[in-house]
Amino acid sequence: MTVHLKNSPALVRQISAAETYPIRSRVLRPGKPLQECIFEGDESTSTLHFGAYIDDKLVGVASYMENSNPMFDATSQYQLRGMAVLPEFQKKKLGELLLLEGEKNLREKRSSILLWFNARETATDFYKRYDYSTKGEAFMIPNVCMHVVMFKEL
Ligand SMILES: CC(C)(COP(=O)(O)OP(=O)(O)OC[C@H]1O[C@@H](n2cnc3c(N)ncnc32)[C@H](O)[C@@H]1OP(=O)(O)O)[C@@H](O)C(=O)NCCC(=O)NCCS
Repeated sequence: MTVHLKNSPALVRQISAAETYPIRSRVLRPGKPLQECIFEGDESTSTLHFGAYIDDKLVGVASYMENSNPMFDATSQYQLRGMAVLPEFQKKKLGELLLLEGEKNLREKRSSILLWFNARETATDFYKRYDYSTKGEAFMIPNVCMHVVMFKEL
């Protein structure tokens, strides 16, 4: 399914795992081997990958993977991973588009689902705008940066 952003040339659609790697690499793991951009669960049939396009150029990605975190009791859990928008396309509502489209697809899959993720501390205020809460203490993902768990019941 392709979704257009109102008053914008941007659109979002489902993509393959491999299509996410160049943007994950540039935004989230710059200078690191591409191997570090391949996540466990990328190829699972339950995983959803979305890409945001402007003028046919892929400029943002986000992936939603069925994965339970023992911090939560919910039986049905998904993890958001690899949320990334190219620097020159940030603050154009593409992150919002990738997040809301993921939420919508997960709600369509199941009636009740808990979406959680390890948020970069620098991005927590972005997620708070969409009613995500933090849980627990911040922690370091080695060679990356400080993170904190965030979640929302969809
Ligand atoms: C975080 C990220 C995905 C947000 O995507 P984006 O396309 O830039 O964000 P949007 O334009 O959709 O932002 C929506 C709103 O949140 C705000 N916002 C965006 N990033 C923010 C941040 N890091 N902190 C606080 N507010 C932020 C925007 O200003 C915008 O506000 P507005 O509605 O008042 O204009 C993107 O900036 C990014 O890829 N950052 C680097 C990698 C990263 O941190 N990824 C998240 C890993 S958990």
